Amino acid sequence: MPGNDSNKIFYNTVPLEVFQSLTQQGGFDQFVDLELIEKYLLPSARVMEVGAGFGRCIDFLLNRKHQAKILAIEQSPQLSKVLLEKYKDYPNVQVIHDDIKTIEVEDKVDVVLWLFSGMLDFAKEEQPVVLKRLRSFLKNEGKLFLDIPQLAELTVAKYTGAQDIVMETPYGNITTFLPSFADIENYATQAGFSKVSVIHYLTKTEKKRSIYMLEI
Ligand SMILES: C[S@@+](CC[C@H](N)C(=O)[O-])C[C@H]1O[C@@H](n2cnc3c(N)ncnc32)[C@H](O)[C@@H]1O
Repeated sequence: MPGNDSNKIFYNTVPLEVFQSLTQQGGFDQFVDLELIEKYLLPSARVMEVGAGFGRCIDFLLNRKHQAKILAIEQSPQLSKVLLEKYKDYPNVQVIHDDIKTIEVEDKVDVVLWLFSGMLDFAKEEQPVVLKRLRSFLKNEGKLFLDIPQLAELTVAKYTGAQDIVMETPYGNITTFLPSFADIENYATQAGFSKVSVIHYLTKTEKKRSIYMLEI
């Protein structure tokens, strides 16, 4: 059945330079998403990133001299290897090669980052379950940020249904579900968040995106 586990094949095999080029095509290498939410990240002592990829968000936080302890969760063996090597001399960065669907987290965090369409890697049924897990990792004043494309603003993917999108690649297909604002509000309520707000923005390559901020 399509879902997060089958989408892992792409991340486990895509060459790093191809992944980086997709990041550039999306306009994410310019960090516009992170700049928009930076004011919320500044006071954070512990930040968790779900699916850290090759470290784009970690690089932003380190370059901006954020003092937060960063927990970078990454399921892909090849990307985890890249991250472990890249940040081995940074005591504030803890790279954890694990799956967000099953990982246990001991110390709660101030912020969870789930950016660059990370949520779309999970099937419709999986998304609310993972969101609930992420809620449980947050401190009482915690915030979760998730970034998704706006409908009909796709770079390298095509629709297979109103909200079902498939990205066909030589490294395997990514089958995704694009939640609507109402879906996210429902997930948030189910997970125990009390407030949802959204920032609509354009990346440097003119992609229309939305960052949702979920507060407890
Ligand atoms: C679109 S990339 C986002 C990379 C990075 N967060 C960024 O903003 O540049 C999604 C990442 O999530 C990872 N991922 C997908 N499913 C995951 C899971 N179940 N647990 C942990 N990481 C996962 C993928 O391997 C990939 O590195």
